Amino acid sequence: MIKFSGLNKIKVCVFISGTGSNLKNLIKFSFLKKSPIKISIVISNNPKAKGLIHARKYQIRNKIFRFRNKTDDEKKILNLLKSNDVKLVCLAGFMKILSRKFINTFDGKILNIHPSLLPKYKGLNTHQKALKNKEKYSGCTVHYVSPKLDSGRIILQKKVRIVKNETIKSLAKKIQIQEHKIYPKAILKIFSP
Ligand code: GRF
Repeated sequence: MIKFSGLNKIKVCVFISGTGSNLKNLIKFSFLKKSPIKISIVISNNPKAKGLIHARKYQIRNKIFRFRNKTDDEKKILNLLKSNDVKLVCLAGFMKILSRKFINTFDGKILNIHPSLLPKYKGLNTHQKALKNKEKYSGCTVHYVSPKLDSGRIILQKKVRIVKNETIKSLAKKIQIQEHKIYPKAILKIFSP
């Protein structure tokens, strides 16, 4: 898809809605020499998203689009991405569903991290569902975004074991540790020659 020459890093926009631990992790990763990406813009639909702190701390341009008018906001975002030469979008805890039109315009260039072993447990409340079904394992998945929710091609997954007395909180914590490992790995994977 996109070529990384090693000289010019690929410009990335990260979309968030909340805490932004994946954003923070991707920012740190982007500073590494081996990283093919540079985070140029952070977009949040939520002006109170904690994750915006990280964008501000590292002086990364950050913009709020509340998605009250999705069509309008998506148009503005596409223009912003185009005028800033953004070649990759990374969704990181972004809670809005992008339109088919937006996804098709940026086809093959939007990634997402999801807290389950897809195709199991698409959508919300993944940990709750995994525990309810007495799964032995859960995990996380980095995948391309396609118009069908949480159904795009899988790039990388990591399994974690569900132990006795596991809670939603303990499972979420365990899985996030792995998320922070596989998101950068997935990015390296898609750009490795
Ligand atoms: C992560 O668990 C991710 O898998 C899901 O939303 C959460 C975002 O966490 N899509 P954070 O905002 O990156 O801390």
